[in-house]
Amino acid sequence: METKRVKIEDPEHIRQEDLEEAAAVLRNGGLVAFPTETVYGLGANALDEKAAKKIYEAKGRPSDNPLIAHISGLEELAPLVEEIPEAAQKLMKEFWPGPLTMIFRKSGLVPYGTTGGLETVAVRMPSDPIARKLISMANVPVAAPSANLSGRPSPTTADHVWQDMAGRIEILIDGGPVGIGLESTIVDVTGEIPTILRPGAVTMEMLEETLGRVEIDPAILGPMKEGIKPKAPGMKYRHYAPKADMTLVEGEMEQVVRAINRLARQAMGEGKKVGIICTDETRACYPAGIVRSIGIRAEEETVAHNLYAVLREFDDLGAEVIYSESFPGDQIGQAIMNRMTKAAGYHIIHVL
Ligand code: TXA
Ligand code: MG
Repeated sequence: METKRVKIEDPEHIRQEDLEEAAAVLRNGGLVAFPTETVYGLGANALDEKAAKKIYEAKGRPSDNPLIAHISGLEELAPLVEEIPEAAQKLMKEFWPGPLTMIFRKSGLVPYGTTGGLETVAVRMPSDPIARKLISMANVPVAAPSANLSGRPSPTTADHVWQDMAGRIEILIDGGPVGIGLESTIVDVTGEIPTILRPGAVTMEMLEETLGRVEIDPAILGPMKEGIKPKAPGMKYRHYAPKADMTLVEGEMEQVVRAINRLARQAMGEGKKVGIICTDETRACYPAGIVRSIGIRAEEETVAHNLYAVLREFDDLGAEVIYSESFPGDQIGQAIMNRMTKAAGYHIIHVL
């Protein structure tokens, strides 16, 4: 299949004709990659089981992993779900459109092919204007996982999508780099107390402010223990994995820098290609290795924005080991550290 690439020159003034073909492809059961404010999505008609199946094939993803249905207006939610609990109504009001996905009991309209066989469905209303317009023109809810090959970091630019998906999908809508850079927060609202299944840019602190009490799926906080099953099936896979062996170093900053330099020298001495992930604040402290700043430590949203691009760049450069600084686990740092510890296979060194 030849993939067509459509560039949106000005996302503030999207021309209808730029999205017409993509909307028709979605309606007719084909695949379209498109930008959202979190990461690029790989879209298909969420109500068409055969279309959902194509997503799994294109990604090389296990088909027990359920998909998020994306909508463009609040009125599109009701047909997809059994009920809209009170907590969900509060969250919709506060955070939709935006980087928040909620898990509902599904209605009969949503096929099991989209939900991985579950009785629940994940729904999100993105804020990105291209995503919104495309979904609205397609006139169907759009199932969309991140538009990467399974096991690769999620794509935050159209080039990332092209690397993974060229030849596998009908159309790629190029809307430039995304804003946030990490996947949406997922909250399960089907139970007594809303539970975070995946941390994101809508932080636990923000959710608590709206809801009072929220819980967090224990599978998020550490390596999965025997017998603990994450509630978001996708969280069980070793996601976001760079090809290199990655180690996170945490502790007091000066000691962290010293430890990373020591570890890097040692690995280079063994002839290995070494990547270092630092921040603008510490960039000058690393004399050797392939050094990349991931953003400004004092502005953590810049770190979220660049994380996946840096991991992909190290893949492209053939890094064999990566040593990375780490971040405090609160606010958006909770999402950053969730992705980073997974990328590192939970390999963390604490220096004193
Ligand atoms: O930001 C995002 O959410 C992006 C953009 C494209 O919207 N999408 C995304 O999709 O990250 P994906 O498929 O890569 O991740 C979806 C996650 C998986 O971990 C999946 O297991 C979980 O959502 N999920 C989906 N439906 C679920 C359900 N019914 N119950 C529990 N978890 C669910
Ligand atoms: Mg994904």
